[in-house]
Amino acid sequence: MPYKSSVRLDQLPAWRTLLEHRDEIAGQHMRDWFAGRGANTRVERFSLRAAGLYLDYSKNRITDKTLTLLTHLVRECGLPAKRDAMWAGENVNVTEDRAALHVALRAPRTMAFHDASGDVSHGVSDTLSRMRAFSDSVRSGAWVGATGKRIRHLINVGIGGSDLGPRMVCDALAVYGRHDLSAHFIANIDPTELARTLPSLDPESTLVVVCSKTFTTLETMTNARTIRAWFVDHGIPESELGRHFVAVSTNAEEAVRFGIRKENVFEFGEWVGGRYSLWSSIGLIIMLYLGARNFEALLAGAHAMDEHFRHAPLEANMPVLLGLLGVWYRNFFDAQTLSIAPYTDALQKLPPYLQQLDMESNGKSVQVDGTPVAWQTAPIIWGEPGTNGQHAYFQMLHQGTTLVPVDFIAVLEPQYDAPGLLDHHRKLLANCFAQSEALLQGGSMATAEQAGGPLGAQRRFDGNRPSNTLVIDKLSPERLGALIALYEHKVFVQAAIWNINPFDQWGVELGKTLCRAIEPELVDPDSLRSDAHDASTASLIRLAGEALKEKR
Ligand code: F6P
Repeated sequence: MPYKSSVRLDQLPAWRTLLEHRDEIAGQHMRDWFAGRGANTRVERFSLRAAGLYLDYSKNRITDKTLTLLTHLVRECGLPAKRDAMWAGENVNVTEDRAALHVALRAPRTMAFHDASGDVSHGVSDTLSRMRAFSDSVRSGAWVGATGKRIRHLINVGIGGSDLGPRMVCDALAVYGRHDLSAHFIANIDPTELARTLPSLDPESTLVVVCSKTFTTLETMTNARTIRAWFVDHGIPESELGRHFVAVSTNAEEAVRFGIRKENVFEFGEWVGGRYSLWSSIGLIIMLYLGARNFEALLAGAHAMDEHFRHAPLEANMPVLLGLLGVWYRNFFDAQTLSIAPYTDALQKLPPYLQQLDMESNGKSVQVDGTPVAWQTAPIIWGEPGTNGQHAYFQMLHQGTTLVPVDFIAVLEPQYDAPGLLDHHRKLLANCFAQSEALLQGGSMATAEQAGGPLGAQRRFDGNRPSNTLVIDKLSPERLGALIALYEHKVFVQAAIWNINPFDQWGVELGKTLCRAIEPELVDPDSLRSDAHDASTASLIRLAGEALKEKR
């Protein structure tokens, strides 16, 4: 059972050798590796293709020796056995005692998957068939609202993993969406999104997908109830709400209690983690908006990456390499963050999606056996689409005191090819490549006269700042599926090295519990017991409670 044992990562031979190796190359500049011996083969050696994606990782502080040592490390950490355990449906999510089988959701029907309770593949394909039938009926107009109107607006109500993935995919692939259907997403308990969205929609032609693995999440339930009241206020009788509400959950009972018809509940297995769930029925809005064929292409792209991850040698395995490079900077260069720079607005929701994927998975400080880690884990993930980021925070990436590795993502084929737009796209790509070149090479913007003086120093770029460039030929459903699966497996690789469980998220629970206690105190600040909170929290509750009292 590869997940039961605890290792002292920092005592492994490869870890110690990597520390020495880091010191060995500390004074070297990547620029010289592109100029010296082996320079012409550097890109060839440090790039690869998988599932339609091309990764150039040559602009990293690595040599052949670094890679050899890093792959020793991942072997010493038992990655292949841990990966196989996940595929075999073992309970790799040890704290919740369940499997993590999201790969089963995107596998072809011919592949069988099992968890401890038996076959899961039949359930997966049955749910997919139900999703397909439902989405076809909505898209064809066979499914109509209570007053007989065709569905034109879709609202996904969910948060975290029940929102970020579907929202990101629908946004990224909006060009594949139907022009007569609009997709909206309500996540936050803050009513701003609701207040801005609902007035522009016609309730008679609106379909709501209430998405929640647990069907108990405060935000989702509150928003769903408010939207239900909106329908009723607009003349749709309670008895007809079944034509406007469907649910996606592992907790069908609770969905039915909310008032959704049993036949309109799309279930999925407990073994699907929230942030790994867009491939399950949580992706229903994706299918409704983009059509079944595009949803299936998304799954196929992810499956192609799964096959690569499972079968490619570790040295030529894209998720393994991305994971190892992340460990190299996080643990050996103390890089606290990773910036994601997609050079397309279509992927503007990718950084927040990856925040949850990476930080909720690997933001842990105990190993699988509960002993504390003595090494850093998840980096802070952040970023904005290029070129916007260049005009905001790239200054710090080029000249700041903190090392920030960057993942650039470039798409070769523009999504919009109207006349004149190719020029935009060429400039976009030129900017993307220029940024990674500047980070690598450094240089000076000083004139000869300025060079020796203080202005010369201000205008100098040291370079030697690492980046990866992922190139996608076209932002299609297949390629997006592969890209997401790439990052999922990268996160898994890092968890395997850090010996943590990437599939639980206990760190979010305490705040939820405390919130349940504070909410009634805001209704009645006089009920606040003097010893109920620390003085700071108590005074904030009093302050807000008094302000809200005036609103009643
Ligand atoms: O609070 C965190 C979290 O549990 C995430 O892990 C999850 O994706 C999100 O809340 C939503 O949960 P649910 O799908 O059960 O509503």
